[in-house]
Amino acid sequence: MAIQKVGVVGCGLMGHGIVQVAAQGGCQVVVLEAEQKFLDSGLARIDKSLTKLAEKAAEKAVKEGKANEADAKAKATADAAATRARIRGTTSQQDLADCDLVIEAIVENLDVKKKLFKELGAICKASTIFASNTSSFPIGEMATASGRPARFVGLHFFNPVQLMKLVEVVRTDSTDAQVFEDAKAFGAACGKAPVACKDTPGFVVNRLLVPYMTEAMRMLERGDATAQDIDTAMKLGCGYPMGPIELTDYVGLDTTLFIVEGWTKRYPDEPAFTVPAVLREKVKLGKLGRKTGEGFYKWEGDKRA
Ligand code: CAA
Ligand code: NAD
Repeated sequence: MAIQKVGVVGCGLMGHGIVQVAAQGGCQVVVLEAEQKFLDSGLARIDKSLTKLAEKAAEKAVKEGKANEADAKAKATADAAATRARIRGTTSQQDLADCDLVIEAIVENLDVKKKLFKELGAICKASTIFASNTSSFPIGEMATASGRPARFVGLHFFNPVQLMKLVEVVRTDSTDAQVFEDAKAFGAACGKAPVACKDTPGFVVNRLLVPYMTEAMRMLERGDATAQDIDTAMKLGCGYPMGPIELTDYVGLDTTLFIVEGWTKRYPDEPAFTVPAVLREKVKLGKLGRKTGEGFYKWEGDKRA
């Protein structure tokens, strides 16, 4: 594979997962955070996830009769340690200079992302491919800001990255054909099924998913049904793993608000892109969902309380 060394910017909810799957795919990974304390908490989440996945891999090997318990545990633990050894944290942008691919997973704010790519464009080697994990912003605008539009794609992973099998690979009219193929091959190496998308608002998944989530919030505002009943209805009626209200908590209310606000600004006449008042109110109160322990529901770590 053309991509051997990967930089990830942001080690939050998405960034830590992207770091992990890239390392599981055999890449050397450098992860950049704004502050050491965010780096520490992101790396701690990776450790926890690797431990959990190693336990599961060992159980599976025993169940399938491939190894006895002690050997299965030893192998799974060694594999997790090898993955972890491929990951290095940093707070210096310079450490991304020789990466083959840099994936951005910072706050959903277009100006902040453009500023970052302008800086990276001046630091990284000429062959570095840039990618954004944005949920909703135009890849083309970030590509222009980076100064290397031909070497720019969207790589949109899904939450939780370690478990969700999809990656959307987004090309603009300027994306070089080989760069697009390299990005797809990288997604596959991370264990994901890549789908090709054009640079349209929300690509495929979020163009369908986010209006569904906001419509559920509007149902709640109108008092059509409780949050619990909306979620139960979609889980049992459609077989979804989570209902739309719980999913909003899982994604983060701040991120969901940034996505819809960005669209409202750009497409003021599109009725599917309007912000529910309840979303704005909860964000104002700091109730951001799972990440702050409360959104529409209360959370204890990764689980509903
Ligand atoms: N790493 C390793 N293991 C993990 C993990 C992680 N990050 N997260 C969960 N697990 C493990 C759990 O510990 C659990 O293990 P046990 O079976 O040993 O208990 C197992 O995975 C299953 O997890 P849960 O018990 O929490 O429950 P679940 O069966 O409901 O699965 C889920 C969780 C995979 C998140 C599932 O509920 C689901 O698919 N939800 C929908 C997620 C979704 O739609 N994501 C897309 C969001 S939109 C987006 O990402 C795009 C955007 O731009 C906003
Ligand atoms: P998050 O708030 O959990 O993490 C963002 C991280 O980026 C934080 O740890 C922050 O300290 C760090 N950061 C901010 N500016 C930085 C900079 N200049 N340099 C280095 N680090 C910086 O957010 P998230 O939920 O992981 O979302 C990140 C991106 O992924 C957003 O664009 C979001 O839209 C997208 N996304 C989110 C989800 C989701 O379900 N939350 C799913 C897919 C895509």
